[in-house]
Amino acid sequence: MMKYQYCGHSGIRLPMLSLGLWHNFGSVDPYDTARDMILRAFDAGICHFDLANNYGPEPGSAETNFGRIVREQLAGHRDEIFISTKAGHAMWPGVYGDGSSRKSLMASCDQSLKRMGLEYVDVFYSHRYDGITPIEETMQALVDIVRSGKALYAGISKYPADLQQRCYDYLRSHDVPCLLSQYPANMFKRASIAPTPDSNLAVAARNGSGFICFSPLAQGLLTPKYQKGIPQHSRAARSTGFLRLDQVTEERIEAARQLMGIAEERGQTLPQMALAWLLNDARVTSVIIGTSSVEQLDDNLQALRNPAFCEEELRRIDRILGKEGIAM
Ligand SMILES: NC(=O)c1ccc[n+]([C@@H]2O[C@H](COP(=O)([O-])OP(=O)(O)OC[C@H]3O[C@@H](n4cnc5c(N)ncnc54)[C@H](OP(=O)(O)O)[C@@H]3O)[C@@H](O)[C@H]2O)c1
Repeated sequence: MMKYQYCGHSGIRLPMLSLGLWHNFGSVDPYDTARDMILRAFDAGICHFDLANNYGPEPGSAETNFGRIVREQLAGHRDEIFISTKAGHAMWPGVYGDGSSRKSLMASCDQSLKRMGLEYVDVFYSHRYDGITPIEETMQALVDIVRSGKALYAGISKYPADLQQRCYDYLRSHDVPCLLSQYPANMFKRASIAPTPDSNLAVAARNGSGFICFSPLAQGLLTPKYQKGIPQHSRAARSTGFLRLDQVTEERIEAARQLMGIAEERGQTLPQMALAWLLNDARVTSVIIGTSSVEQLDDNLQALRNPAFCEEELRRIDRILGKEGIAM
């Protein structure tokens, strides 16, 4: 059964597992599978769906497909669904289709609402710090998007810890506290959730922001799927996949193999254990999974069945990965 947690210092509860539409929901993907995954997720209590303007490919098509599924299959359920989208990465041609300027964010928000056929999203994120745009410009755009009613809450993604603090300060001083902070985190890639006072997770928690982890299975590396080479139907094999072949290293495959042994002893699959491991820190509100089939979704949904780890298990996991993980 799905479990829900309060999102930082807010009245919003999110499911501990959320579903992301970065891969597998675009115009190049089978529509029926995309629809079945959304419906299965919703039926299983995953009421949070994570999108971005550029998800596809083609960019924008995940939002278009999601909007169609909501319209055709989930009409009447809008108030039960929590939808996030983002802007900040390359999306449309020309100088305003990329980056975190006010011009890009305001236009992108309108475009996303149109593609999804929605009046508002629940969270609108700044997808990234672009290295140039002043924090104040990007954050003021988030404030104005929320004030306009096009989003209910603001979020940030991937901001380095020092800028992350400035974002929270700006948003709070404009009465639009940051609801949700989104960072990459998995057993291999642990910097954002490191047990240090300046990790992204620690900064978010101090500021009352919820924290949501993305790529919790390291894009599929924390599953058994690469144990016997690169399967034809896998993210690493896809020309449109973001998992590069050179990231599928012997070291990671061997680590996954050893982790599978611990998972088995716990009565879990490796994906289930990897998700439970992230949720073992109470400051983590939710993890966003990505799936390419209903079977994977069903597998991952069982992660919440055995969430607790004993000290010895955690020590053994650390011995396999090293305290800092195998950086990606
Ligand atoms: N804010 C950001 O910048 C940002 C960046 C990245 C992602 N995100 C968000 O996070 C979401 C999740 O990211 P992600 O897709 O990288 O997550 P992930 O869970 O690390 O990887 C998903 C992939 O793992 C494989 N997989 C999942 N469950 C499996 C299972 N039970 N057994 C075997 N293989 C399994 C599938 O690979 P195959 O396709 O090979 O089957 C699936 O496509 C995205 O959709 C997006 O919403 C945000």
